[in-house]
Amino acid sequence: MPETPMSPTPMSQRHRITVTVNGQSHEREVESRRLLVDFLRDDLHLKGAHIGCEHGVCGTCTVLCNGESIRSCITFAVQADGAEITTVEALASGAVLHPLQEAFWEKQGLQCGFCTPGMLLRAYEMLQRDPDPDAATVREGIASNLCRCTGYQFIVDAVLDGAERMRAGASAAAASGSAETVDS
Ligand code: FES
Ligand code: FES
Repeated sequence: MPETPMSPTPMSQRHRITVTVNGQSHEREVESRRLLVDFLRDDLHLKGAHIGCEHGVCGTCTVLCNGESIRSCITFAVQADGAEITTVEALASGAVLHPLQEAFWEKQGLQCGFCTPGMLLRAYEMLQRDPDPDAATVREGIASNLCRCTGYQFIVDAVLDGAERMRAGASAAAASGSAETVDS
């Protein structure tokens, strides 16, 4: 007797999910088809992840999922159930910019700023793994993210400068005996 094919999950089916975003736990009910970027922007009102191509190509919707960069435009919110998501809003401490953001500001690593949230998080992820990259490594690292304004050179300069600032911050924290924070 032929097997009966399993009926697909209706995309309108609702699921209760718990996602930690920027250190805060959120429990919500979402439809199967709810995209993570829409969940972040519309349900949690975190507008930092931008929506560009909506096809996983441009990278402006980049967020970190358990520390790894993902495209939130091609990720369903239900896939983030139980995960730790970091958005660009987590980088600054109130009005104090993250060293990487300061570097982007001072080195003109942005013009219109549309790609910037994704660039910042991609660079942040890269610097967690390699705090002292050379320009070629940075260039390769950000190759996953598109920018239509800067020509990339200023972004590479900004990431290298941000890396230097982060290393200096980590050294100062170690010298003062304060707990190391990756964000300062
Ligand atoms: S909007 Fe997600 S990759 Fe372009
Ligand atoms: S600064 Fe405009 S797209 Fe990158």
